[in-house]
Amino acid sequence: MKVFVTRTLPGEALHRLRTAGLTVEVHEGLFLPREALLRKVEGASGLIPTVEDRIDAEVMDRAGPGLKVIACYSVGVDHVDLEAARERGIRVTHTPNVLTQATADLTLALLLAVARRVVEGVDYAREGRWQAWHPELLLGLDLEGLTLGIVGMGRIGQAVAKRAEAFGLRIAYTSQREKPLPYPFLPLEELILEADILSLHTPLTPETHRLMDRKRLFAMKKGAILLNTARGALVDTEALVEALKGHLFGAGLDVTDPEPLPPGHPLYALPNAVVTPHIGSAGKRTRARMAEVAVENLLAVLEGKEPPNPVV
Ligand code: DGY
Repeated sequence: MKVFVTRTLPGEALHRLRTAGLTVEVHEGLFLPREALLRKVEGASGLIPTVEDRIDAEVMDRAGPGLKVIACYSVGVDHVDLEAARERGIRVTHTPNVLTQATADLTLALLLAVARRVVEGVDYAREGRWQAWHPELLLGLDLEGLTLGIVGMGRIGQAVAKRAEAFGLRIAYTSQREKPLPYPFLPLEELILEADILSLHTPLTPETHRLMDRKRLFAMKKGAILLNTARGALVDTEALVEALKGHLFGAGLDVTDPEPLPPGHPLYALPNAVVTPHIGSAGKRTRARMAEVAVENLLAVLEGKEPPNPVV
């Protein structure tokens, strides 16, 4: 049986596939063109895609009727047409839990970078502009006592809240339903009005697409911060660019729409936008664990068992 893995994965997980007697084809480039994906998936029983591969009905049909499992190398599954998989009896799995802490760490890194203008400071020093200490140089926001509004209080949202408490932030959240947590639950529109920092941790679905549209971005407090380590399309990018020119203090974005954010995009020209290239889960141990989880799920389905992390 053939398995197609759309990128090289860190750690030993792929070795496990080979020792299980599978024929493993791995695409070794940084980028996998659509044509190559369609060609290489032919005849595969299992597929391990990354968030950058759009896995739709066309890909599933090119794989053929032998395709049993799409074991995503991610927790998010918005890149997979789940309905098409369901219709074809293909199992879809993902990698929850293992990347929670890494993603929460990066969210805090972005928060600190934006609030304390770290990237501007680094550029200032590197570019030789640092000539004196001054009481008013690169003033940022003091975090203690500010309100962090968390949109989507799942595993990652809760891990962010735990970290944020250590900085003296007050936490409030919105989620599909209220949870037994020691933080106030607010409807989204109220949370947006209350938050000094708004952090997005909700999956991308048709309902959450452009959740932060122009109206909501400009409804945020003047001088607030937006953080997005979930999915770029949760935010209207064009409106965000405008909001960053005076309304918001800044934004920390690990995900963007479009993604990758092309060179020369207006966001790069804004000193108060800190953009990282979708590296929320990019801890060495985390990425190796994600590979192990994806492989475990894939092997379970091919062995006729229930996978540990099913989506479909
Ligand atoms: C995910 O897992 O969904 C991240 O976006 C990539 O690790």
